[in-house]
Amino acid sequence: MNRYSIISAFVLLYVAVVSCNSAPEKYRPQIHFTPKSGWMNDPNGMVYHEGVYHLFFQHYPDSTVWGPMHWGHATSTDLVHWEEQSIKLFPDSLGWIFSGSAVYDEQNSSGLGKDGKGPLVAIFTHHSSENEKAQGKDFQYQSLAFSNDAGVTWIKYEGNPVLRKPEGTDFRDPKVMWYSSRSKWIMTLAVKDHIEFYSSPDLKNWTYESSFGAEAGAHGGVWECPDLIPFKKEGKEHWVLLVNINPGAPNGGSGTQYFVGSFDGQHFTASHTDTRWMDYGTDNYAGITWSNTGDRKLLIGWMSNWMYANLVPTKNWRSATTLVRELDLQQVGAELYLKSNLPKELGVIAETSIEQAERISLPIKIEMGTVPVGQMEWSFSNKEGEVLKLGYDKASNRYFIDRSNAGEAGFHTDFAKIQYAPRIATADSMNLTVVLDHSSVELFADDGLTVMTAIVFPTSDYSIAERK
Ligand code: FRU
Repeated sequence: MNRYSIISAFVLLYVAVVSCNSAPEKYRPQIHFTPKSGWMNDPNGMVYHEGVYHLFFQHYPDSTVWGPMHWGHATSTDLVHWEEQSIKLFPDSLGWIFSGSAVYDEQNSSGLGKDGKGPLVAIFTHHSSENEKAQGKDFQYQSLAFSNDAGVTWIKYEGNPVLRKPEGTDFRDPKVMWYSSRSKWIMTLAVKDHIEFYSSPDLKNWTYESSFGAEAGAHGGVWECPDLIPFKKEGKEHWVLLVNINPGAPNGGSGTQYFVGSFDGQHFTASHTDTRWMDYGTDNYAGITWSNTGDRKLLIGWMSNWMYANLVPTKNWRSATTLVRELDLQQVGAELYLKSNLPKELGVIAETSIEQAERISLPIKIEMGTVPVGQMEWSFSNKEGEVLKLGYDKASNRYFIDRSNAGEAGFHTDFAKIQYAPRIATADSMNLTVVLDHSSVELFADDGLTVMTAIVFPTSDYSIAERK
């Protein structure tokens, strides 16, 4: 090899390395959180503390399919840019680390604080696959971990587990909140086909309060990841109970139903008998709200569906979170409905109107403004001829997302389909906001009263937008 061929070999190698590093990874979203590598499912332990939004997540770092669960960790100061941190909770002799929540124990009720300061406390489910195999019961129990350095390091409580049900099977996903009018903690727990509420003065000792739901709502699958959220509307208190369910969602697989009602510190009572869904799309699951955000109710979900989550065609990582949603209640007729919108912090996403958006580059947010209710279809396509359609069908009074020819879909027979959502608003004008990232679409209709989230895998980015 002469001097020139050695130099050109180095140049080629350099170009290869540089282009390999800088090439965008196929399907990797830009404005949604994804783990650098490995598997992710539910968001966990979201707590706002000292100016930082903490997001933990179900994580298996050693594979891109579900396995022994850890709590991964990411942080943000603006709800838009997420920085992945080190893994915070690892499996141990009690089991894998399943989903749960985190609170700021300001008054140090748990006694786990330090130097007169309250700790952050994570309340999660330990899942023992050994117990599950050996005895088929008593394999899920609730445990604590705490941090006295604002979430940087976590110590598991030596008295774990703190809540156990020897005859129980599915007994998981504790969401804990401070119930100030009775000065106690309330834990909302998913127990197979219903919700159980427990209370505690100190996060360590829990007393059963009541059950809800065995005969309410959808029951096409197991109940998981609940959240109990207080709202104030015109001086009156209302409560929303989120219940995730797998399978049994309106467009197949897993989804999030909700109940509006009241909670008196012991019992939750729903004010309606119809089944309602927080998001009618296929890909917003296991979402819960941040604790310690005052009157703001901020939620993030896992942007996938158990139907095909382990099969989606990403390479080094699997799954993203949804964009953060700000929840509120809205009256329609005599009823209150849950609505989800993008929080003001997400105003930084590049925005356009559909009329101006013939050629688009992702990520993008497209606003329709307010128009009379009528048939409407938008399409987003790429040079391969793949097309994602969405819009409103007047005859059936439904919004839809059509991903039947939107990109790669061969990994699961039920992926390439049209999904529908009822229009809940009754006004004679409507509005629509759509956010597209490299492998997702999020649709907010009627100021967030009907919401749909779906993942898509176009072989190249959609670059053309059209309105019919
Ligand atoms: C929901 C869920 C939870 C469980 C976790 C395990 O997606 O099944 O119920 O805690 O995932 O990873």
